[in-house]
Amino acid sequence: MAEKLLEIKGVSKIFRVGGMIRGKKLVAVDDVTLSIDNDKPVILSIVGESGCGKSTLCKMVLRLHNPDMGEIILDGKSFADKKSYDPHQFKLDVQPIFQNPYESFSSRKTVDTYLYNTALRLGIAKNRSEADKVVDEVLKSVGMSLQVVKGKYPTQFSGGELQRVSIARALITRPKLIIADEPVAAIDASMKMNIVNLFKELRDKYKISFIYITHDLSTAYYVSDYIATLYRGCLIEYGPAKEIMDNPAHPYTDLLMNSVPRVGDKWKDATAMPDMEGKEYAIQYCKFAPRCPYATDKCRQERPEPTQMGNERMVLCYHPLTEKKA
Ligand SMILES: Nc1ncnc2c1ncn2[C@@H]1O[C@H](COP(=O)(O)OP(=O)(O)OP(=O)(O)O)[C@@H](O)[C@H]1O
Ligand SMILES: [Mg+2]
Repeated sequence: MAEKLLEIKGVSKIFRVGGMIRGKKLVAVDDVTLSIDNDKPVILSIVGESGCGKSTLCKMVLRLHNPDMGEIILDGKSFADKKSYDPHQFKLDVQPIFQNPYESFSSRKTVDTYLYNTALRLGIAKNRSEADKVVDEVLKSVGMSLQVVKGKYPTQFSGGELQRVSIARALITRPKLIIADEPVAAIDASMKMNIVNLFKELRDKYKISFIYITHDLSTAYYVSDYIATLYRGCLIEYGPAKEIMDNPAHPYTDLLMNSVPRVGDKWKDATAMPDMEGKEYAIQYCKFAPRCPYATDKCRQERPEPTQMGNERMVLCYHPLTEKKA
């Protein structure tokens, strides 16, 4: 077993928007380096306002996009290395959970069909009776059961219940990593905590790590072991969740944290950022400098290098706030 479960090394994704001739390049993910250790399962939340590159980064980890630069390594195997990378194993090891559970299931099929298909198609169960056992077990680990779910269509469940079924489906392959992109955004406020609590339970019970993408301050605070803040595609701050949320070092994280955490709060609403402009993605110096109250000439000339703060924290800023407070 490799020391790291996941290594994202200097990864960038560039989209061309508009036509081939007059189109522009948009650096949606800009030189991001992040990792998750293998020995201790964690919930890593990726936060930041709309359009900062959260989903694009995760799509690269899910192999739905290829990085234009950098490398992603899962359990010691680089995605780029066709010899060591096994697509079947990847499907077992990494599972996605999406925002809207009603879109994950067709309204014309009973939801148990999906669970059976996953168990049988990926070879987790050899026959129907083995599949019964597997499906019932995963449903029970999310607080449901085959008896309750069998024969029912998606519309017969609430959003929260259906999201639990999607989580159960992800568990069938006994994944090492679950990537959940805004999994509670479409769910009733009263059920949000319920779902994120489940992530914590599954982390501890099955040793699964989660990448949890969210706008939701309160759930991120509650659930995360680590937090990564993205701004215009750049990873601007990373570290243990409590330290970052109680004592942010980057002025942008500080701005985010200043909104009052309540279930359902969204940073984009709370911070009322102006719409993003393509040119800000292309800035070669600090991307936050145009809005930063502490920006100096240096910030407007060069991009800061990642600065380590202690063992586990990193900030991309010439003037971290913790220095000011010290
Ligand atoms: N396939 C694509 N082609 C062109 N541009 C894209 C594509 N996918 C994403 N983008 C652009 O890349 C940037 C990052 O998008 P992304 O979806 O990763 O943001 P996000 O942080 O997930 O936002 P949200 O919080 O709204 O989901 C945005 O400007 C988006 O318009
Ligand atoms: Mg997104």
